Amino acid sequence: MSSSSADARAGAARPAGIDPATGPSAELRRRAEAARGFLPTEEGLALHGAACSVRAEVLGPMLEIGSYCGKSALYLGDAARRTGRVLFCVDHHRGSEENQPGWEWHEPDLVDAAVGRLDTLPHFRRAVYDAGLEDVVVAVVGESATVARWWTTPLALLFIDGGHGEDPAHRDYECWAPLVAPGGRLAIHDVFPDPADGGRPPFEIFGRALASGAFAELEGCGSLRVLQRLDVPLRPTARPSVP
Ligand SMILES: C[S@@+](CC[C@H](N)C(=O)[O-])C[C@H]1O[C@@H](n2cnc3c(N)ncnc32)[C@H](O)[C@@H]1O
Repeated sequence: MSSSSADARAGAARPAGIDPATGPSAELRRRAEAARGFLPTEEGLALHGAACSVRAEVLGPMLEIGSYCGKSALYLGDAARRTGRVLFCVDHHRGSEENQPGWEWHEPDLVDAAVGRLDTLPHFRRAVYDAGLEDVVVAVVGESATVARWWTTPLALLFIDGGHGEDPAHRDYECWAPLVAPGGRLAIHDVFPDPADGGRPPFEIFGRALASGAFAELEGCGSLRVLQRLDVPLRPTARPSVP
């Protein structure tokens, strides 16, 4: 979806918990707003605030699934710099289902003509470079589940904004949510309680996080939801479609 239409849909939603004193600089904000992608400004600022609010005692890096051209990475990368962390950005950079030709969110100029497939990595790299964040933002180019299989480091913040289909979204939750450290944050994008506003899977994994007993909702802004990991075991939950 375009940033402007998502902005409109976010309506008057208020970015809760944002301290203007810790918000990104005007320059960073300008770059993030100019970056191609799908995160409305209010939600980007809320994400930044959520990332900055993790207590220093909660060790570990931040990680996002789904970077596209780097918009959310700029907000989170700035938060990483401010909090002395590193942000890992997991994306195969071939686009989600809805970014493919014939789908609503396809951007033809992002296709690598030689390969015949989308390639958002050069745009991501350029956005991170221009924002001066290369030392704190690390691209991990690959399939989310493949990376997760070998990932063991607890996370101070996990942002899920990868594939929005049923299987990719639930797989991202199942693979990555257990890795959020107690006191850390789980942020999920495109959570729409009303099916008329958007697809179900991000809303479903938000529900699974709450039902696991291991996460408590902290704040919401537009379609962004932020939860805190509690210091209790995560109860496994089934996908809604599984009886
Ligand atoms: C909605 S976009 C991310 C938008 C980005 N967070 C922003 O701020 O603009 C989803 C991204 O997830 C990536 N993606 C989808 N499924 C994936 C998977 N299984 N593994 C890795 N990346 C995936 C796509 O390549 C796409 O760039």
